[in-house]
Amino acid sequence: MKILITDSANSAAQKAAFFMQQFVIDKPNAVLGLATGGTMLKVYHHMIEFFKAGDFSYANVQSFNLDEYVGLAGTHPASYRYYMNENLFQHIDININNTHLPNGQSDDLPAEANRYENAIHQANGLDAILLGLGKNGHIGFNEPASSLASRTRLKTLAKSTREANMKYFKHIDDVPKYAITMGIKTILEAKNCILIATGESKAQAVVDMIEGPMSANCPASALQMHEYTTVILDKAAASKLKNLDYYHYVHPNGDEVNL
Ligand code: F6R
Repeated sequence: MKILITDSANSAAQKAAFFMQQFVIDKPNAVLGLATGGTMLKVYHHMIEFFKAGDFSYANVQSFNLDEYVGLAGTHPASYRYYMNENLFQHIDININNTHLPNGQSDDLPAEANRYENAIHQANGLDAILLGLGKNGHIGFNEPASSLASRTRLKTLAKSTREANMKYFKHIDDVPKYAITMGIKTILEAKNCILIATGESKAQAVVDMIEGPMSANCPASALQMHEYTTVILDKAAASKLKNLDYYHYVHPNGDEVNL
């Protein structure tokens, strides 16, 4: 794992946005995996800023989001389709028909999950995936005890995940109990993984992911098996790491070092 520790949540987001931009510059028809949530808002803000200032295009990019709630229409303000349209897609030149999310309103959810998994394969897989981290160590909605070999499927959300996402709904009972999420194996098949975590509340999950044993108890720890994972942290999220000095030594200020 490449571990980059930045000064602030904003510089972590800027760095993650820079990586995503770079994938598109290097491969204009890149297939990107995308996440939602609070942390990503800043990342998308910078991606939009870079797009407006830059000389590159998302016109040939395809995107696959990690997950979508079951039961919410894409027009529901808390759905991930709505979030993506509002916070990224309508601000860049991506073709909306090339943006994919699972259909959480499907009549046959297991079949929809299989269709989504197959669609990723038909697109020749993900060139890069942008990941956030749950306080409980989840990536996508792969909650603790998820199989490390899992594929896109229906998943029951943990109580802590529903509580963390309550702010997007009027009442806890309105937060969906289920989601369709890419599996851990699906994520591990991406050619590059970029995970961003910021804030003290993520510090323990960061330790479990990077320094803990690989375990379904912390689904993000499966990234230890991925050859090209970059973890971008702010100081607060990195604060409990045992080998902090080493990570700073290898990448001072969270920067790449040319040997
Ligand atoms: C959502 C997703 C989740 C979030 C995670 C962190 O698409 O993939 O794994 O990235 O729950 O969410 P925030 O950033 O809101 O703390």
